[in-house]
Amino acid sequence: MPSSPTFSPKDSLISAISLFVFTFLDLLDLLLCYFYRFLDGILEDNPIPCYCHNRAKQEASDGEDIVSETLCRRRNLFREMGLPFLKAKLDGKQYEGEPCSPRWSDCSCNSCLSWQEKGDEKLHVVAMEPSQGKKGEHGMNSIENAFFIHGFLSSSSVWVETVFPNLSDVTRQNMRMIAVDLLGFGRSPKPTNCKYRLKDHLEMIEKSAIVPFQLSSYHIVAHSMGCIIALAMAAKYPEAVKSITLVAPPYFDSTEEEASQTALNKLAERRVWPPLLFGSAVMSWYEHVGRTVCFMFCRNHLIWEWIMKLVTRRRDLSFLFIDLTKHTHYSAWHTMHNVICGGAKSMDKYLEVVRKAKIPVKIIQGDKDQVVPLECSFNLKAKLDPAELKIVNGRDHSSVIVGREEAFTRELEDTWFSSKNCTKMSNG
Ligand SMILES: *[C@@H]1O[C@H](CO)[C@@H](O)[C@H](O)[C@H]1NC(C)=O
Ligand SMILES: *[C@@H]1O[C@H](CO)[C@@H](O)[C@H](O)[C@H]1NC(C)=O
Repeated sequence: MPSSPTFSPKDSLISAISLFVFTFLDLLDLLLCYFYRFLDGILEDNPIPCYCHNRAKQEASDGEDIVSETLCRRRNLFREMGLPFLKAKLDGKQYEGEPCSPRWSDCSCNSCLSWQEKGDEKLHVVAMEPSQGKKGEHGMNSIENAFFIHGFLSSSSVWVETVFPNLSDVTRQNMRMIAVDLLGFGRSPKPTNCKYRLKDHLEMIEKSAIVPFQLSSYHIVAHSMGCIIALAMAAKYPEAVKSITLVAPPYFDSTEEEASQTALNKLAERRVWPPLLFGSAVMSWYEHVGRTVCFMFCRNHLIWEWIMKLVTRRRDLSFLFIDLTKHTHYSAWHTMHNVICGGAKSMDKYLEVVRKAKIPVKIIQGDKDQVVPLECSFNLKAKLDPAELKIVNGRDHSSVIVGREEAFTRELEDTWFSSKNCTKMSNG
C-alpha cells in the first residue's frame, strides 16, 4: 500500500531510533572490518578482501563482469568521514583460488560440505518424472516441464514440500517437475571464487538442469528473488518458455541508472520497524555485521536446529526454518547485491523481450507481504499488461504459498493448462 505522507508521532519516533541505531551499526561495521581483516589474515591462506577497501578497483572494472554498485557504494557515515586510521589498505591480493575449503567463519558439517566431494559442480536438482512416460494417453506428444526457482534464503523445498504433493493426477501423469537449489543455497555448491552474479546463476541452471534434461519447452514458476532469474531466463530463451508465474516479484519502477539503489533502498530501507525490514537492512547494508550474524547462525545451524527441536518438541523442523541457514555469508551477500540489486538494472530489458514474445505471465502476491512491497506487483502488471494479477488477501511473503498449498497449486495448473493447447489434458 502506498504509505501516506502524513507525519505521525510514531513515525518520527521510529525515524529517530533508526537514525541512532544505524549510526551505531555504521561504526560497528567498520570496527568489525578491522577485526575480520586481522583474523582472516591469520586463519586464511588467501583472505578474501571485503568491499570496504577495494572500492576503487571494483568501480574501475566494467562490462559484463561488473558486480552491483551497491556492494561498493553503501553509505556509511564513518567511512565517508574517512577516518585515517581506518584507511589502511589490504595487500591488494585478489582472491582467485579454486573453490576452496570453507572459510573459518562458515559451517563445515558434512551436509554443508557434501557438494565439494562430488567433483563437478552442479546444482542440487529435484525432479519428479511424469508417471506416464513420453506418450501419455491424453495425446501429448512430448512431456511438458515446469521449472521452479526459489527465493532468497530458501531452497527447492519451498516447492517440493508444498506444490509437488498437491499436484493433480493429470499433471502428475503428463508433466515433469524440476526444482533447483540456487547456487550458494540449500544443498547446492557455495564456492568462494564466484561473485554470484545473475549470469553465474543462469549458467549453473543451464549446466545443471536445462542441458541434462534437454529442456526445450517449459513453464517457469518463481518466488521473490527467483523472479529476477526467471525473467532473465525467459529473455534468454523466449521460445522455450511457455508461461511464467511470478510470486512476489521484487520489481520497482525506476530508471536503469538508479535501479540498483532503488531496489536496495526499498527492500532494505534503513529502519528499525517492522522487524523483517530491519533484518533485511542489517544484512544488506553491513558486510561485516552480516558476516557476524551468519557466523552465529549459519555456522552453528546444527545447534540451533537442536534447540528448535527441543523448544518445539518436534522431530522435523519446518523447511522454512532450516533453509534460513543453508548458505554462507559470502554466497548470500553477493547474491543479494548482484542478483536483487544488480539484476534490477536489466529488468526492463527482460520484460520487453517477454512482452514481445507474448509469454503469458501471472503475478501472485499476498497483500500482507512485508518483504516485497505490494507496489511491485502493480508496477509489473502495468509494465506487462495483459499479465494476470492475483492479490491474495491476508497472506504475507511466504504464506502466499505455505498454508494454502492446494489453492496455490491449482493456480499454477490453471496457468499451465490455459497457456497452451491443454484442453487435451483436462480429464475427459
Ligand atoms: C498439500 O500439501 C500440504 C503440505 O505439504 C499437505 O499437508 C496436504 O496434505 C497436501 N494436500 C493434498 C491433497 O495432498
Ligand atoms: C492447438 O490446437 C489447435 C486447434 O485445436 C491445433 O491445430 C494445434 O496443432 C494445437 N497446437 C499444439 C501445440 O498442440
